[in-house]
Amino acid sequence: MDLAPSEEMKEKPSDVLKVPFGTVFTDHMFSMRFSAKKWHDARIHRYAPLSLSPAALCLHYGQGIFEGMKAHRRGQRILLFRPEKNFSRLNQSAIRMVMPEVNIDFALEVLKELLRVERSWIPEVSGSSLYIRPTMIGTQEKLGVKPSDEYLFYIILSPVGPYFKEGFSPVHIYLSTDYVRAARGGTGAAKTMANYAASLLAGTKAAELGYSQVLWLDALERKYLEEVGTMNIFVKFDDELVTPPLTGSILAGITRDSVLTLTKDMGLKVSERQISIGEVIDGINSGKVTEMFGCGTAAIIAPVGSLWYKGRPYTIADGKIGRLTRHLFDELTGIQSGELEDPYGWVVEVEH
Ligand code: PLP
Ligand code: COI
Repeated sequence: MDLAPSEEMKEKPSDVLKVPFGTVFTDHMFSMRFSAKKWHDARIHRYAPLSLSPAALCLHYGQGIFEGMKAHRRGQRILLFRPEKNFSRLNQSAIRMVMPEVNIDFALEVLKELLRVERSWIPEVSGSSLYIRPTMIGTQEKLGVKPSDEYLFYIILSPVGPYFKEGFSPVHIYLSTDYVRAARGGTGAAKTMANYAASLLAGTKAAELGYSQVLWLDALERKYLEEVGTMNIFVKFDDELVTPPLTGSILAGITRDSVLTLTKDMGLKVSERQISIGEVIDGINSGKVTEMFGCGTAAIIAPVGSLWYKGRPYTIADGKIGRLTRHLFDELTGIQSGELEDPYGWVVEVEH
């Protein structure tokens, strides 16, 4: 470990809830390198810029993957939420992008050690957490298109409040009919950097109209709901809660999986099936769509207040937060922060 002397440590934000998401980073990070077919040089060290060849393969051909998870603090306790799922998804992304896998137990141990080092950075105020960003990039210096022989894996930490500046209030989403994010057989199910790059242009159009996220349709028919920019999507039609199935072009969200478990246990009728945009628009017009929300690690549960589709906005259920949406937000944040009992064994405590 190469730890910063206390006089060189950064000042922490006085009000983390006001800090724009992902703009402040802690004093230390974890990194390790891969070459000659194995991981080595694993260490916790000061947060610092990377040194990378300008010909590094990741900079040209996009061999890069990442994860997003959160640590919560409750008194002296540090809590993670289903972290092994994130590392196993990282490995699935690695397989898709022809990158080396990491040992999940090892990755979890080094993350816990980093969190112990950065304990004082984990905010405790309600609505805040320490966002964790494991990242892997291909670093070999070469211009030929091929999988890199060398990689850097690192974990950085950022104290955060709500992902949307509105906090837990309805977000307005823009349905893109001009662009698609990912096609089946492509990389949509991997958490790889290019998927986000592909989303930026539609995101800019959405922002110009005052919308905070893009809702994507399937690439082939441009008819079925896929997911939102940084979230999976759920629609409640009368008493049926529906989310699109995992067909390979969307991310298998860990929050999505948790919502499916929570709602099934509540006795709700829950379906993973295709949802056409026509069904949604008809349902909004007839009042059959009673709630719509997005879910993801950063955004948690985000009620959808309105949807922009083909030149006009559609308000969902008076633009108010639905009962189920609110309940799921309370339940999930309660379990994640240790305020509520966790009957599922989802919370992993970082021992002292
Ligand atoms: N879909 C996309 C494109 C995302 O970036 C995210 C965020 O990670 C999600 C869905 C939700 O996934 P999770 O709940 O695992 O954070
Ligand atoms: C997350 O929810 O962790 C994400 O990855 C979303 C985003 C900040 C890219």
